[in-house]
Amino acid sequence: MKFLLSLVVVSAFAVLFAVVDSQEAGWSAWTDKPGASCNDTCGACGRIEQIRTCEDPDPATNCQGESEQLARCNFDICLFPRHPCCEGTKKAIDLENKLFVCQETEE
Ligand SMILES: *[C@@H]1O[C@H](CO)[C@@H](O)[C@H](O)[C@H]1NC(C)=O
Repeated sequence: MKFLLSLVVVSAFAVLFAVVDSQEAGWSAWTDKPGASCNDTCGACGRIEQIRTCEDPDPATNCQGESEQLARCNFDICLFPRHPCCEGTKKAIDLENKLFVCQETEE
């Protein structure tokens, strides 16, 4: 019974990952659109246009979803009098670069 239960749990995760994975299948990584620029300087307030290309077309499964998105950009915290981080982000420490940054909060 315990074995059966773990089998069910493992399969559920396998299905979940397969679903998440299929949305990414075939796509390149997101890159900033050539010529695009972030429309704000700090706080992860700005947005930049990004694109991805379909590298493995297979209409049934691959390259589902959008090929363009608006992504947050410029994660340095804002200086006074601006709020340090924009909505949906919080102040965090970038240990590698030893500075404060704005980090997306998980929903
Ligand atoms: C940047 O662009 C986004 C998306 O178009 C918009 O919501 C935001 O208000 C813009 N920010 C500024 C500072 O113009």
